Amino acid sequence: MGRFGHKLKSSSPCSATKLVILMSIAGLLGAALIADFLYASSSSFSSSSSSAYLSVASNWAREKSGIILIPSEDRTDKASKKQGVVEDKKESFLSATFADLPAPDLQWEEMPPAPVPRLDGAAVQIKNLLYVFAGYGSIDYVHSHVDVFNFTNNKWGERFDMPKEMGHSHLGVATDGRYIYVVSGQFGPQCRGPTSRTFVLDTETKKWKTMPPLPFPRYAPATQLWRGRLHVMGGSQENRHTPGLEHWSIAVKDGRALEKQWRNEIPIPRGGPHRACVVVNDRLFVIGGQEGDFMAKPGSPIFKCSRRHEVVYGDVYMLDEEMRWKVVTPMPKPNSHIEFAWVIVNNSIIVTGGTTEKHPVTKRMILVGEIFQFHLDSLRWSVIGKLPYRVKTTLAGFWDGYLYFTSGQRDRGPDNPQPKKVIGEMWRTKLTL
Ligand SMILES: *[C@@H]1O[C@H](CO)[C@@H](O)[C@H](O)[C@H]1NC(C)=O
Ligand SMILES: *[C@@H]1O[C@H](CO)[C@@H](O)[C@H](O)[C@H]1NC(C)=O
Repeated sequence: MGRFGHKLKSSSPCSATKLVILMSIAGLLGAALIADFLYASSSSFSSSSSSAYLSVASNWAREKSGIILIPSEDRTDKASKKQGVVEDKKESFLSATFADLPAPDLQWEEMPPAPVPRLDGAAVQIKNLLYVFAGYGSIDYVHSHVDVFNFTNNKWGERFDMPKEMGHSHLGVATDGRYIYVVSGQFGPQCRGPTSRTFVLDTETKKWKTMPPLPFPRYAPATQLWRGRLHVMGGSQENRHTPGLEHWSIAVKDGRALEKQWRNEIPIPRGGPHRACVVVNDRLFVIGGQEGDFMAKPGSPIFKCSRRHEVVYGDVYMLDEEMRWKVVTPMPKPNSHIEFAWVIVNNSIIVTGGTTEKHPVTKRMILVGEIFQFHLDSLRWSVIGKLPYRVKTTLAGFWDGYLYFTSGQRDRGPDNPQPKKVIGEMWRTKLTL
């Protein structure tokens, strides 16, 4: 039995009903919003040994049928049952897993885990190598190095340092196939301030150089190379919460800025961090994301993170040669924390996992476990499969027919989509589109 196997066997309707009620009560009591930005203690960061290759089917969506129940017969109807609505005498409750979309199961194979667990890390694939940058190891510790995974021998190999002055999470990252541009981001653990510093890595020499700093620092701005310019837009402003709408670009070539300053470009219709930004077929897409984020607690000497209102969205914006933003079909559900969770395969963009809107009753965070496909010819979305679990800020790659993901923060189990453990695990599945 895989580690994500059936925790919740299809139990009798009676015990399942109790479970729903218990979960609802627990959810309401816990509404003090303490646990959502929860990092497991370092002891639970244990990663399985790299020799433990494991094959499991992703089965979490099947589990949820066990807890979507209608306790009071007289008030049920088929429609509410279908939507996972649990009705009560006084008010309606939605099951904790109501946000999961139906999706085909995929066969997943566990690969060697990354040397360290990472939340809010960054990644770029160049040919058969996945460069994995920075990220929180725990809420009080951030990484300042790069780990490299080799898709040819399926091993983690090289590790090298980032510049000391570079941000440690919420970076904007893009590559031209040799040079990797790293823009702005948060400097330090907890909810510390951002830096506007910008760097470029030559992956052949492993040498870093500086670039002109961004006009203002940003958290997790949408970043991509397009038509010879490095574009940076959206993200959160200096207070970590207020969405930035600004859009800047600078001409770059072979790892060097050709201009002294960033130039203003057409602002993005909606700002905010944690969006996927993809250039494909000479068009630039900005996908999903959120407005608002955790902020440092005022006066806290350690910049302790405290939760603030945030809205997740599934909007998709496109820039083409007209340089006007066009709104295209939104994602099947709101989705954020996907900035490095995408790959381009066969004229489509594949997006893995994320976070969706909070639970409307318990206000808990809800992770996403589906794999979405955006078809570049029709500009439409479909749901093509499930990950082994729900997970956000995952780092995706594609090689030799396999979709890979590693790192991020996963759910509490098949029946609980709230974030818990920060992981370094790596998984792959054979993709057939
Ligand atoms: C990746 O693995 C292949 C196969 O073992 C090897 O030939 C290649 O040198 C490796 N690349 C790097 C950068 O380590
Ligand atoms: C992409 O398209 C090619 C050619 O049609 C096909 O052989 C391949 O299997 C497709 N890849 C995936 C992942 O479906």
